[in-house]
Amino acid sequence: MLDQEGLPAFFEALQRMEAGFSELPAYESAAPGIERLAETLNATVERLRDNYPYFHPLYAGQMLKPPHPVARLAYALAMWINPNNHALDGGRATSAMEKEAVAEIADMYGWKNFLGHLCGGGTMANLEALWVAGQLQSGKKILASEQAHYTHGRISGVLQLPFETVPCDARGRMDVNALAKRVGRGDVGTVVATMGTTATGSVDPLPEILALRAKYGFRIHADAAYGGYFVLAENLGEGAERALARIGEADSIVIDPHKHGLQPYGCGCVLFRDPEVGRLYKHDSPYTYFSSAELHLGEISLECSRPGAAAAALWATQRLLPLKKGGEFARGLERGRKAALALFEKLRADARFVTAFLPELDIVVFAPKAASASESSALSRKIFEAAAKRDLHLAVAELPMLFWEEHLGAMKPDRGTLTCLRSVLMKPEHFDWVERIWELLSASTDEILNIRH
Ligand SMILES: Cc1ncc(COP(=O)(O)O)c(C=O)c1O
Repeated sequence: MLDQEGLPAFFEALQRMEAGFSELPAYESAAPGIERLAETLNATVERLRDNYPYFHPLYAGQMLKPPHPVARLAYALAMWINPNNHALDGGRATSAMEKEAVAEIADMYGWKNFLGHLCGGGTMANLEALWVAGQLQSGKKILASEQAHYTHGRISGVLQLPFETVPCDARGRMDVNALAKRVGRGDVGTVVATMGTTATGSVDPLPEILALRAKYGFRIHADAAYGGYFVLAENLGEGAERALARIGEADSIVIDPHKHGLQPYGCGCVLFRDPEVGRLYKHDSPYTYFSSAELHLGEISLECSRPGAAAAALWATQRLLPLKKGGEFARGLERGRKAALALFEKLRADARFVTAFLPELDIVVFAPKAASASESSALSRKIFEAAAKRDLHLAVAELPMLFWEEHLGAMKPDRGTLTCLRSVLMKPEHFDWVERIWELLSASTDEILNIRH
C-alpha cells in the first residue's frame, strides 16, 4: 500500500551521487550505528502511525494529497547534500533547479519575463504578494472575498495594511456587483481574486475583476494556491475555465506545489508579472554572497534559509510529469474533478441529502436533509464520525445559508450557516473510488438517520 518499489532506483541514484564526490579524502561520519538508528526509527513509526491515512483514497476530507513517489525520493536524495536555496553559495545546483521549475510554472500562465521563487507555502507566498502590493499602493485597501483564505486578513494585519472583505454570491464567488460598488470609492489598492476557494473550490470571476481594474486601476493578486494548476485541466465548467484562462493578466500569482503539485509540505510559489518589483526586496548583506555576480534567490525572497530539497523534488516531478495540457499530470487533475462531479450527481439525486452548487473544481459540499438547518448541522457531525468509523474520512465545513437556499426545500433556515460535510477529491485515484466512497457514506447516513432498507 505504501509504495516502496522506487527504493532500488533510489539507492542506485544515491551511489551515483556519492561517486560525484569520490575525489574527496575519506572522513569518519558521526552516524549513530545501525542498532540505535533502527530502534529510533521504530519509535518514530509508532508515533507516525497515529495519523489519518492521508495517502489513501478513502481519505477524502481536507486538502491533502500525497507527494508523488519521485518527489519523495528526489527530496530524500537532496537531503544527503542538504542545500540551502537562500543563496548560490549554499545551494548552487538546487537554485538552478528552482529557477527552471518556477519558469515552467510561470509558463502555464504565459509568463516568460517575470520574477518568482519557491517559499514555505501559500501563506508565505501570499504574504510576499501583499507586501509588494502594499508598497506599490501605499495606504490603499486590500480587498478579498468573504470566502478568501483567512490568511489574507491576517497577513494584512501583520503588514498593517487596511483590509476589507467583499460579499460572495450564492456559488461562493466574489460578488462582482458588490466589488464594483466598493472599488468605485477610489481607495482600493489591491483586489485578491481567489482562484479556487479553500472551502468549496469556487473560482472568483476574474474577467469581470479585470474589467473593473481597467476602469479603476487597482492591482490584482490571484490567490491560486489551491486552484492554479487547473489551467491545465480540460474538463472545467465554463465559468472556471474562463476565469482561469486569464490568470496571466493578474499582477501577482500564488500557486502551491504542495497542494495540487504533488510536493511534500514546504513548497509554495509566488510570481510577479513585472520583474522590476525585485527592487523592493533590496537589502545589503556583506557576508552571505560571494560566489557569483548573478542575482541570488535570497535577494528576491523574504525568507532566508529555504530547503533546496524542495526545489529538487519539484524539478524531478515536473521532469517526469511536465505541466502540459493533455499530459499525465493534467489528466490526474481531471480525474479528481470527474470524481467530484460523479459524487455530486449521486448526492443531488438522493432524497437524504441537500447539495449546494455544482463543484467548480474538485471539492463537494453537502448536508443531510432534516427539518431545520440546526438539525441538519448536528446530523452532519454525526455522519462525519460514523463515516470515520468505516474508514471513510470526510471534513466538516461551516458555510453561509445563501449557498444552500435554492435547494433547501422544506428545510427551515433557522441559522445563518449550515454545518455541512465537505469532501476534497484531489487524488487521481479518487475517481476509481467514488462507488466505494458512496457506499460507505450511504451506510453511515442510514445509520445516523435510522433508515433500514
Ligand atoms: C486559497 C488558499 N490560499 C492560501 C492558503 C494557505 O496556504 P498554506 O496552508 O500553504 O499556507 C490555502 C490553504 O489551504 C488556500 O486554500
